[in-house]
Amino acid sequence: MGKGGRASWSGSLAFVIAAAASAIGLGNLWRFPYLAAQYGGGMFIAIYLVLVATLGFALMTTEIAIGRKTSQSQLTAYSRLKSGWGFIGIIGTIIPILIVPYYCVIGGWVLYYLKAYTHMAFTGVNIMGEAAADSGQVFSSFISAPFAPFGYGMVFILGCAAVIVMGVKNGIEKSNMVMMPILFIMAIAISLYVLFLPGSAEGVRYYLVPNLDCVSTPDGKFSIVLLCKTILGAMGQMFYSLSLAMGIMVTYGSYTSKSDSIEKCVRRIEIFDTLIALIAGLMIIPVVYMFAVKTGTDVKQAMCAGPGLMFITLPKVFATLGTAGAWVGMGFFLLVVFAAATSAISLMEACVASVCDIMAIDRKPATFFTTAIIMFLATFSALGYGAWKHVKLYIFDTVNGQQFLDFFDFLSNSVLMPVVAVATCVFVGWVLGPKAIIDECESNGVTMKSKGIYSLMVKYIAPALMVMLLVSEICRALGIGGWSI
Ligand code: PFF
Repeated sequence: MGKGGRASWSGSLAFVIAAAASAIGLGNLWRFPYLAAQYGGGMFIAIYLVLVATLGFALMTTEIAIGRKTSQSQLTAYSRLKSGWGFIGIIGTIIPILIVPYYCVIGGWVLYYLKAYTHMAFTGVNIMGEAAADSGQVFSSFISAPFAPFGYGMVFILGCAAVIVMGVKNGIEKSNMVMMPILFIMAIAISLYVLFLPGSAEGVRYYLVPNLDCVSTPDGKFSIVLLCKTILGAMGQMFYSLSLAMGIMVTYGSYTSKSDSIEKCVRRIEIFDTLIALIAGLMIIPVVYMFAVKTGTDVKQAMCAGPGLMFITLPKVFATLGTAGAWVGMGFFLLVVFAAATSAISLMEACVASVCDIMAIDRKPATFFTTAIIMFLATFSALGYGAWKHVKLYIFDTVNGQQFLDFFDFLSNSVLMPVVAVATCVFVGWVLGPKAIIDECESNGVTMKSKGIYSLMVKYIAPALMVMLLVSEICRALGIGGWSI
């Protein structure tokens, strides 16, 4: 990497924490809870757990082993393994470049909410205006403001770049060691607070007890199509949450030592990530449930998808908690800022490492160069709901068009990531052979326990499921076959 030799983690714990910090992000905090509420609570959770332990395990192991075997970021790793397959790395490198600008814009929104709740907690003054009355209005006027979303987004990007420029050990590792414990403590504290609220038990039941309605037709018959939809929903979430197919795990894997057990590290990363997703559900679903019951809203509708849940519904819920609401809001948005920052840092690092590897330059110039590109691209997403809201992209949604942020999100998450995952499975399963990855996992002299399931997954099951995910995502975008959720 660059001229100074490849960076490395200070140990396997530092690697596990960094990879978990990357995985734990907005996906755990807003995507997992609403999907769980949408797809039958415990039923969705059970499917998700099985997928993480099998498919997620195979994909994450593959990426980390490729990084470690080649000591390269994903841009150059695949071509090192076999000439002619470098295209996977090239497509894969485009993914974080597309994601990180809009992810940082959302990070900027979260920063604004953190500032507002901190102000409210300490002074009692609500700078957002009457959030209790109309938080939808507060949110839309913030994201459509001429400068604020751009300004907060840029602060967020510069904060992440400052960590990256300090390097793997001094920047990424040290910042994770501060942010991750605080994130865990806040998450546990808020979920305990929620669990002790009078009436929360019903909401917890709604979240955890399997509900078969999501796989039944309105007349109560079991539907295989609805079951497939639930499985694909869980699979998409697993993909998103574990930071797979976006070059991060290849890059972070390239900094690990040969003596680390990849298998053990992957299991630990998955446990941390899933634990935070489950806790996020406990923080969010019961309060939204209670709020929905109190206001006579449909629970599924209250648990709306995307930004609506975090920036519109939750502020309404916090407002019903009296003076404690400002403190809970502050704690919650601090936790979200840390989760988003650690994920954005890992996405940015995947880009910086690729620039270092391909241009053979050092981290500092590579970080400046990458940050400038990210700032430029982020401008489109930051201004896309405001000053540039009349600009729409009619590539995937040919009827309504897409705003920049939605377009970048769709292109990366729904198209390019499944394509990279399928290509990786075909490459590893059928060209390189699973043995190459198993050998890398066993290079520390310890037998890989799950090698049977690994080979089965990477050769047959993972590519088939990934193709299904890709097709369903494209059908959803084009409005074919009722795939929308
Ligand atoms: N895994 C992280 C999350 O769940 O938020 C990081 C991430 C995933 C970032 C997917 C961006 C993304 F599109």
